[in-house]
Amino acid sequence: MRIKFIASLLKGANTVLDIGTDHAKVLIEALKSGYIKKGIGSDVNKGPLKNALKNIDKAQLNDKITLVQSDGFKKITNSYDVVVITGMGYELIKSILQQDHQAPKYYLLGAHYQVELLRKYLAEHNYQIIDEYLFFEKKYYLFLKVINKKALLEEEDYYLGPILKTKQEALPYYKDELDKLLKIKEHHRSNQIKKQISLLKEAITNLERQQN
Ligand SMILES: C[S@@+](CC[C@H](N)C(=O)[O-])C[C@H]1O[C@@H](n2cnc3c(N)ncnc32)[C@H](O)[C@@H]1O
Repeated sequence: MRIKFIASLLKGANTVLDIGTDHAKVLIEALKSGYIKKGIGSDVNKGPLKNALKNIDKAQLNDKITLVQSDGFKKITNSYDVVVITGMGYELIKSILQQDHQAPKYYLLGAHYQVELLRKYLAEHNYQIIDEYLFFEKKYYLFLKVINKKALLEEEDYYLGPILKTKQEALPYYKDELDKLLKIKEHHRSNQIKKQISLLKEAITNLERQQN
């Protein structure tokens, strides 16, 4: 399931700050699996933190997870080496990244939608995408591993993903995206959609060529 997948991407981290932790399930799963040493679960709302506390009590992980009510990084004073922000929209992730904060070793970002805008924002603000992961559970979820480093991206990479486009696992995802776009009647296709269709076709051809 998605939570287990996110937790597995944190292998080897020391202290993980999970912003918008909600139920704290990512931290609980990562700790139970021995992937991380400690967690800081933060959420802007009291309700999710109550839920998180219940789950942490049940898992007997109170000595390993600190809960903080905070809008993004604003009230975070504890140190951490990895930051997770998943299950939010692009605009919210962007607004959190814009807040003052201590730079982690890496960020793991999972935008529900508008991933291309997130990639563009990252490239224009001195963040480098060092890996991209796809997970399928009824729909596709994308997670970006990001560090603080200047790295320019080609415009096509905003849409395809600079790392994703090199991975065979992206094939069914690109095909799925292409199918969705081809369902739009030709005379209703904007220039942007036409461009996306041609990028997807090219990326699919490249990946299929690599198989042979
Ligand atoms: C849909 S849940 C995602 C939960 C979890 N991260 C996941 O991927 O399953 C979004 C959570 O983000 C919290 N949230 C929204 N805005 C926030 C902010 N500015 N700072 C911290 N948490 C926020 C919400 O209260 C909610 O619990």
